[in-house]
Amino acid sequence: MRKVFILALVFIVSLSCCACADEVKIGSCIYTFNDAFMLRFRNAMADESPKLGAELTLADSKNDQTTQDAQVDEFIAAGVKALIINPVNRMDVQTMVDKARAADIPIVFINREPMPEVLASYHKAYYVGAKPEESGTQSGQLIADYFHEHPEADKNHDGKIQFVMLRGENGHQDMIARSRYSVLALKNAGYEPVEIAGAIANWEKLQAMNIMNAFIMSIGAENIEAVLANNDEMALGAVEALKANDYNKGNPEMYIPVVGVDANASALDAMNAGEMLGTVLNDADNQGIAAVRLAEAVASGRDIGTIGYEVTDGKYVWIPYQKITKGE
Ligand code: BGC
Ligand code: CA
Repeated sequence: MRKVFILALVFIVSLSCCACADEVKIGSCIYTFNDAFMLRFRNAMADESPKLGAELTLADSKNDQTTQDAQVDEFIAAGVKALIINPVNRMDVQTMVDKARAADIPIVFINREPMPEVLASYHKAYYVGAKPEESGTQSGQLIADYFHEHPEADKNHDGKIQFVMLRGENGHQDMIARSRYSVLALKNAGYEPVEIAGAIANWEKLQAMNIMNAFIMSIGAENIEAVLANNDEMALGAVEALKANDYNKGNPEMYIPVVGVDANASALDAMNAGEMLGTVLNDADNQGIAAVRLAEAVASGRDIGTIGYEVTDGKYVWIPYQKITKGE
């Protein structure tokens, strides 16, 4: 009896050891840890991993593709069973796909979309993200709805919307499509949008604030009827500049509608304080959860149909955007 018990104990102990050894190690590179949206994304991945019995290691690629490539080499050498990559340069990822293929491990790209042919070059390469045209359209609609409810927002009564556009990083799919589709949404709502000023502010609040200050100096805040920013950080930079010029501080005569994308906590605060019109939820939680579930499932040889998210064309997980305005 005693012997049986000890044997059973040995069996249980060895079973649990197997479980430890089986813990799927995932290596993840983030283009920079210095990005408010990617912080939400990282947190979502870190929260989900232990629930799957996966061990996630996050690396800060410090906005340098060479650094990131070296991190990928280190992860593979350390024996990770899956990679989750937020590329520094989404056009420069074929080499790491080839490395993942050589190691026979899945590579899940997030937030910065590689070209379809790069994903097609390896059957275990995937992309988890959101469709940027959706967020562009929705942010344009927020401005259109505002003009619909506030005809006086057309300050110079010319029937057109004189707007400022603050763009994200050059070449980023979100910068390209959000800029285009936000303007298209205004046109589709029957307005005539006119870009009186626009610039790339690289997703950064400080850059956007400086640019917006310069625009206010050269154009005059009274001649700006709306601000479309490709993300919340830049929208908040614009809000800072406006507030420094006594705009968006509660006086309805001195208000310019500003919209962003992401729904970061600081933007929601600004929106609830009446400093920002609205934003679009970029669902970092679901993108992060989907990314680790997909990586873990493929690494463990499980069917990707089990992850709880639809995998389109066996390659893409698309998480929807959602409009956010005050009181909703
Ligand atoms: C977000 C930005 C972020 C960028 C990073 C975008 O989807 O909206 O806030 O800076 O991704 O790649
Ligand atoms: Ca006008």
